[in-house]
Amino acid sequence: MVKNVFGVLLLISVCLAQQHPDVGLSTIEMIQRQGYPVEEHVNIQTPDGYLLDMHRIPHGKNNAGQTNKPVAFVMHGILSSSADWVNMGPEKSIAYQLADEGYDVWMGNARGNTWSRKHITYNPNRDSEFWDFSWHEIGSIDLPTMIDYVLGITGQQQVFYIGHSQGSTSFWVMLSERPEYNSRIRLMIALAPIGYMSNLTNPFFQLLSTFHNTLEWVLSFLGMDEFLPSSDLFTLIGQIACNDESFVQGICASIFFLIGGWNSAQLNQTMIPVIMSSTPAGSSTKQMIHYAQLISSGNFRKYDYGMILNLIRYGSLSPPDYIIENIQAPVGLFYSANDWLSAVVDVHQFANQLPNLALQFLVPDPRFNHLDYLFAIDVRELCYNRALALMRQFA
Ligand SMILES: *[C@@H]1O[C@H](CO)[C@@H](O)[C@H](O)[C@H]1NC(C)=O
Ligand SMILES: *[C@@H]1O[C@H](CO)[C@@H](O)[C@H](O)[C@H]1NC(C)=O
Repeated sequence: MVKNVFGVLLLISVCLAQQHPDVGLSTIEMIQRQGYPVEEHVNIQTPDGYLLDMHRIPHGKNNAGQTNKPVAFVMHGILSSSADWVNMGPEKSIAYQLADEGYDVWMGNARGNTWSRKHITYNPNRDSEFWDFSWHEIGSIDLPTMIDYVLGITGQQQVFYIGHSQGSTSFWVMLSERPEYNSRIRLMIALAPIGYMSNLTNPFFQLLSTFHNTLEWVLSFLGMDEFLPSSDLFTLIGQIACNDESFVQGICASIFFLIGGWNSAQLNQTMIPVIMSSTPAGSSTKQMIHYAQLISSGNFRKYDYGMILNLIRYGSLSPPDYIIENIQAPVGLFYSANDWLSAVVDVHQFANQLPNLALQFLVPDPRFNHLDYLFAIDVRELCYNRALALMRQFA
């Protein structure tokens, strides 16, 4: 049923724009169509039984012979996948830019998304147990598993890590929980970093943070296990957020743009069907709820199970904070003034606690939003070129 909703939305967006050859292609097919080398690494098993797929662009078009390449490990955000890093094509997307700059590019896929929706025992279509995770598990289990796999295959000692949105949150979790991974990170680049969330302005999450502990609401609107929002929710948020021109309403009907926001100046409308054909790529409801808890608590901390279960799990009535001081690897923060999810004051608060801040870069476009880090027409000039320059300093 919900898949149908997304299907209809895809159709609408296809009609809104001219047909692009990448519509409906997978990450791998898009890379192949551009003539870049691509490898698929499937069923990388986590200690708790999830099977993750990774995609790799081992080199660019003009540097095939270069050996001992540094690894760029890129990690997507919520409801997203490896497609984020390639779907705008070789002129824009960062995976191609990194490959042409001499990096060996590895794209992760978190448990629960299109590529990693599998487990040795649980069936994602049937078993609630499969969906019993938030970005806590993505950070503390999936990221270490994938990083170790990449280091094993490449023989490198460290990776350059680039994370968008939840790809940054899960990174903070990894180093808070497993500080021994600091030494495997050369540099971390956070695009639209998310740690503290008390100042966010996203209407979807604001609503969610008000209702997050009302179970019935969660059940009927969000889906209990997999995040499968009902059309009632679209309508509700649409009324709050999208009383704008009709074209914007078309985009706004997508939960993905609802969460990330839009910026008509930087969004290439021809590319919307391409984006929509790989997103939303699947997440658990618990990932959403965990973010909603950060908004209402104002803390960057573990999942709140309620006082009694917290006491059993954590030995305290409230969940413990993540230990930001454990994030010893150098970090470059890229943030922007019009980001609905990553507010400037929240980024500053987080930055003040980071022990090894290499760069704090406010994107020089006041309208740059949360999804522009992936899809903006001028994303290279506004953001990626600065990120790659920082990476060169850590070569
Ligand atoms: C951000 O949120 C905190 C906690 O709710 C609040 O104290 C502070 O005033 C907010 N800052 C801004 C600039 O709105
Ligand atoms: C928008 O995307 C189309 C298709 O990839 C491309 O031909 C066009 O140049 C893009 N427009 C801008 C402003 O980047």
